[in-house]
Amino acid sequence: MRAPGQEQIALTSPTGSLGASMALANKQSLKRIKIASAISLEPGDTKTQYGEVTTSNSNLRSTVYTNFWLTKSLALKRIEERIMKTRAPRNRTLTCTEDEITVFSSDLLQLSNPTAMEDITDRVIHQDLREAVPLLPRSFVDLLILDPPYNLTKNFNGHVFRAKEAEQYAVWFEDMLSAMLPLLTSKASVYVCSDWRTSTLIFPVLDRYLHVQNRITWEREKGRGAKANWKNNTEDIWFCTVGEDYTFNIDAVKLKRKVIAPYRQEDGRPKDWEESNSGNYRLTHPSNVWTDITVPFWSMPENTDHPTQKPEKLIAKLVLASSLAGDLVFDPFLGSGTTAVVSSKLGRRFCGIELNKEYCCWALKRIQTAKSDPTIQGYSDGVFWERNSLSDQNPSQAKSGNGQTMSLFDV
Ligand SMILES: C[S@@+](CC[C@H](N)C(=O)[O-])C[C@H]1O[C@@H](n2cnc3c(N)ncnc32)[C@H](O)[C@@H]1O
Repeated sequence: MRAPGQEQIALTSPTGSLGASMALANKQSLKRIKIASAISLEPGDTKTQYGEVTTSNSNLRSTVYTNFWLTKSLALKRIEERIMKTRAPRNRTLTCTEDEITVFSSDLLQLSNPTAMEDITDRVIHQDLREAVPLLPRSFVDLLILDPPYNLTKNFNGHVFRAKEAEQYAVWFEDMLSAMLPLLTSKASVYVCSDWRTSTLIFPVLDRYLHVQNRITWEREKGRGAKANWKNNTEDIWFCTVGEDYTFNIDAVKLKRKVIAPYRQEDGRPKDWEESNSGNYRLTHPSNVWTDITVPFWSMPENTDHPTQKPEKLIAKLVLASSLAGDLVFDPFLGSGTTAVVSSKLGRRFCGIELNKEYCCWALKRIQTAKSDPTIQGYSDGVFWERNSLSDQNPSQAKSGNGQTMSLFDV
């Protein structure tokens, strides 16, 4: 139904008309309509997508979110266009072609019966976690990483998570968390990602069910500046355990920092730091404030088009600190697959669940690539390095293909 002030218009794409597709917009004299985000390709899913509408008056630029209708063949065409869209020469964002989606899809699991450990080890499950989790084995998870949608309306490639009242988000989170508990071993650890709003909502829930050990604050180094507020630049990661007997490998997550005050002992030897050709460094105990990790950027090979992808370096810290080689790491909000990729690179087993098929395929492609390239940007020689330190980590890697020194976000 048309809302007051709205008019019905034909949708056009940069490459031409989308035929019978229609949208409702609340401004007259429309100049152009841009399809803003990806299109769901779930079986039988032929509609529900969002368009961005720009008015002819630039002062009145308004974004109106409307439903419009696409046939499956048009949806496929849009996906193809999106993959083929011109990227900057140094843009290394990973995508899948239509053929790759077909191939990788055949490796995805969908559960309909209770499973055994061997059925789901090192596998990606393409399903709603609410259906899949009750069919998983009991007590099989050594490390659980939860990166749920924060309480914001967000379009995950056609699946829209809708912001809820705060109390409802807490209830949603509690239902989800309590379904996970039977999957955990008695020594398991649980990390939960959140933003500043959801952090306070989930803490009481975590505190009821688990031993809350710490809250890590990650300075994300990316976020939109606000006109009348502080730029939102942090995320919280709650660290919890099932009991008080748990794995924690502090030596596996040391941070290598440049020494600012190079004090020496009486005999001239460095005090608590090392001298090397590339500089003076100290290995420090990691704190619960993380300032050494950027979000994935398009110049990084781990980058995908997932809207909220976590950096491999961040997940590597969780995996190295809180699991042992061979342990199983479970992520039921797998997204682009970061937890599975990192677990595989670090010699752990994994299992992940993700609602969106294209994301699942990106995950499988990344896992496949990880077999021949297990490097994690920002982690080398068994230590984590500060931001923008690639030239110190490995001077030969610091030259890009065209001979220019890489410095922009080369963590
Ligand atoms: C915050 S993102 C996770 C991003 C991920 N950590 C990464 O690095 O790419 C949350 C993901 O959960 C997925 N998701 C949301 N609800 C889900 C559900 N009920 N079952 C399975 N996956 C779901 C979304 O599609 C989205 O990709």
